[in-house]
Amino acid sequence: MSRYDLNTQAFLACVAPLLDSPEVHSMKQWRHHFSVTCYEHSLFVSYVAFRIARRLGWDYRSAARAGLLHDLYLYDAADHTAHPGNQCLDHPEFALRNARQLCPDLTPQEENAIVSHMFPLAIHLPRCREALVVNLADKVCALLEVIHIYRTRPIQRWLPRPAAAVTVTKW
Ligand SMILES: [Fe+2]
Ligand SMILES: [Fe+2]
Repeated sequence: MSRYDLNTQAFLACVAPLLDSPEVHSMKQWRHHFSVTCYEHSLFVSYVAFRIARRLGWDYRSAARAGLLHDLYLYDAADHTAHPGNQCLDHPEFALRNARQLCPDLTPQEENAIVSHMFPLAIHLPRCREALVVNLADKVCALLEVIHIYRTRPIQRWLPRPAAAVTVTKW
């Protein structure tokens, strides 16, 4: 088995039940950064966080799960009537609320990773290694998305391709 397959297999073992959930699937309907959907971004963050945490010997399952759920706010961020506050600062709180409903066994580390992923823009501090790794992965992935590197062949070949990722977006 190739290294790609081993990493993909280990990654999917961490997040497969979440990838099958309607809530995670529903992120495919919303754009996040240009043409990149919220689902694609979340899967990207999840896999980058997983790979970093695994390489460092940290809790890669928590990093993968929190990475996948960190933007589970479940509304169209471009719709300014979707919620009254500041999207940039508020969405981690919405994501955490939805993640708790989806995943009652969320650990304190996973919760902190989700709610602190906008630090230093938002006030919640990353308080564990998994939160740091999700925070870093989110920024790296967002950068690669906004400079249009995400859809290049090397990134797409590197990313795992769970069956759920094949579904086309609604828009
Ligand atoms: Fe976010
Ligand atoms: Fe994000």
